[in-house]
Amino acid sequence: MNIIRVHGGHAIEGDVHVSGAKNSALKLMAATLLAPGTTTLTNVPNISDVHVMGKVLKGLGATIEVADEHTLIIDTSAVDSWEAPYELVAKMRASTAVMGPLLGRFNRAKIAMPGGCNLGARKIDMHILGLEALGVQFDTDHGYIHANAPEGLTGTMVSLEFASVGATENLIMAAVRAQGTTTIDNAAREPEIVDLANMLNEMGAKVSGAGTPVVTVEGVEELHPVVHQVIGDRIEAGTFIVAGALAAGDRGVAVTGFNPQHLGMVLKKLELMGVSYERVNGGVRVWRAEHLRPVDIQTLPFPGFPTDMQAQVMVLSALADGNSIITENIFENRFMFASELVRMGANIRIESHHAIIHGVERLSGAQVVSPDLRGGAALVLAGLVAEGETDVSAIHHINRGYERFVDKLTGLGAQVERASIPDPLED
Ligand code: EPU
Repeated sequence: MNIIRVHGGHAIEGDVHVSGAKNSALKLMAATLLAPGTTTLTNVPNISDVHVMGKVLKGLGATIEVADEHTLIIDTSAVDSWEAPYELVAKMRASTAVMGPLLGRFNRAKIAMPGGCNLGARKIDMHILGLEALGVQFDTDHGYIHANAPEGLTGTMVSLEFASVGATENLIMAAVRAQGTTTIDNAAREPEIVDLANMLNEMGAKVSGAGTPVVTVEGVEELHPVVHQVIGDRIEAGTFIVAGALAAGDRGVAVTGFNPQHLGMVLKKLELMGVSYERVNGGVRVWRAEHLRPVDIQTLPFPGFPTDMQAQVMVLSALADGNSIITENIFENRFMFASELVRMGANIRIESHHAIIHGVERLSGAQVVSPDLRGGAALVLAGLVAEGETDVSAIHHINRGYERFVDKLTGLGAQVERASIPDPLED
């Protein structure tokens, strides 16, 4: 069993550069399907989710050349399939991001139904309702969704019930090739959506309003390949900022490679908790907070507090002087890591989608299981300040979204290593 072992109690300091944003890169890779030819993506993170999306594209008939560790040259000229198979969708739900581009290019797509995952049911009904409004007919059989628009797609007004990131992206990617204009009301505003709209516009699309609640897409006849740089990963940055707030020495930790405006609400909440930071070129420098104040946080779509930072900030609140409350509004199953943190000495009570955290003096190292990507990273952060050793297992979750997480932490002086141990649950 592969684990990450953290020896707690060592200060970290220095500089860490974040990789390209996972949640941008995955959609930009899908969007290359819209422009037959060779698109080059730079600053692509070398993580397992990107490898899965590479397999999805190859399965459709694309070729991918890895020019260097962070540059993918994706040729979609020969794509002649419109099917995302179960074995890949089951591995990574974001595979469903090819539905919009396949509809835009071929007027059809066959996508395995994603089913539940460890963040909850995660339906795609809003993707389907929105695409239906554009003229797509849906049918399901044998666990697959068949999407067909024999007459092509027609622009229209779509009002999303909730500002879903994935639905907004799939709709934009389908609408760029529709006849006429599509308006998406209550669109998600995440920076990754702005990155997607920017790349599509470079390709010749006419998308306006990305980053606001109303996105307008004027359909065009064709898109052409481009060279595009993926934005820096705000969540990876936020994760290292929390690491600094927990454990940075006098020199602090400088986290660069991202736009701090993309972390506005996180930085605001950290400041309220007593974390000090300053802007540096391309990021922020953060120092360890001597006295953490409790916090009241609710996760919300951007520009609200991101669900993807909830677990990391809960580690800080677990050590705060008083009671914090964290309300999770996006995913139903995102407190699973809290019971692992309790094993490390945290005092957390979960009531429905609220976590009530009574701050404790110290955490103590334990064997814990990473329940999902962000929860896993948060447990490693907790290990940095816990007494003794913390062994975090199920680290494949962490590898999905953090490039060289252990190396980046050791680069800051953390005592962290990968190790292999016998599985305690096996006979
Ligand atoms: N939802 C529906 N119906 C839909 C679509 C969404 O009920 O048709 C629900 C979901 O079940 C969920 C909520 O709406 O409860 C939000 O879902 P959303 O569509 O906004 O999220 P997503 O596109 O599935 C992306 C990121 C997540 C991130 C969320 C919220 C990618 C690949 N994933 O997911 O990232 O947490 O937006 O910002 O972009 C992660 O990186 O660890 C991660 C989970």
